Amino acid sequence: MRIFAHRGASAEAPENTLQAFNLAVAAGVDGIEFDARQIDGEIVIIHDRQLDRTTNAKGLIQGKSLHYLRQLDAGNQQQIPILAEVLSTAPPGTLCNIEIKHLFDVHRWLEVFDNACALSQKAIDDIIISSFNHHWLLALKQLRPELTLSLLTASYELDPLRFAAQFTPWSINVALDVVDRSYIEKIKQSGCKALIFTVDDPDDMVLLKQWGADGIFTNKPALALKTLA
Ligand code: G3P
Ligand code: MG
Repeated sequence: MRIFAHRGASAEAPENTLQAFNLAVAAGVDGIEFDARQIDGEIVIIHDRQLDRTTNAKGLIQGKSLHYLRQLDAGNQQQIPILAEVLSTAPPGTLCNIEIKHLFDVHRWLEVFDNACALSQKAIDDIIISSFNHHWLLALKQLRPELTLSLLTASYELDPLRFAAQFTPWSINVALDVVDRSYIEKIKQSGCKALIFTVDDPDDMVLLKQWGADGIFTNKPALALKTLA
């Protein structure tokens, strides 16, 4: 079962910071997950729409300049990182899951993405792109069929794979609150991997492994590695 550090090792260091990603990589995770927003011509790594919870500033992120965002403290005197910096923390073979939280121009997004891959020398095979907004994923897939995509969902619909019919994603990533063994089985029968978020309790980790989950996202990667060893 693959272990992804959710927003980095975010139980130990400020979430979505280079410190959190470096800790996760040092622990030996299979992958890191982080939240991406397209802002001021860049892809910046931050979860919320507002600055309040994770930085020393307040207000909506949208409309702020990159220069302004980069001088903020995202915890432990860490900067809000940009995509290229986060990709650079992961050695070859360590997966990078870019979760798109906001995207307004898919062509510009791909330009920044390409530059970030080149700067970080990150192989496309080591990158997974996910989102709760499946329209953005479809737009990306139409422009770049080679991309590895994951559909995020927090519901177990009556026909749960209907939304995957437009293209076959690499994985369907399901919220822990709604998942059960049957959901995991259906996903796997469709040819996709089943990854579950966000899993911090060792009992859940063990149960999901028994149910056949292909991976988990956890804020506590060191605990997950120990529990599932
Ligand atoms: O990618 C899985 C998970 O990160 C989705 O929810 O809100 O933690 O970004 P959230
Ligand atoms: Mg996320």
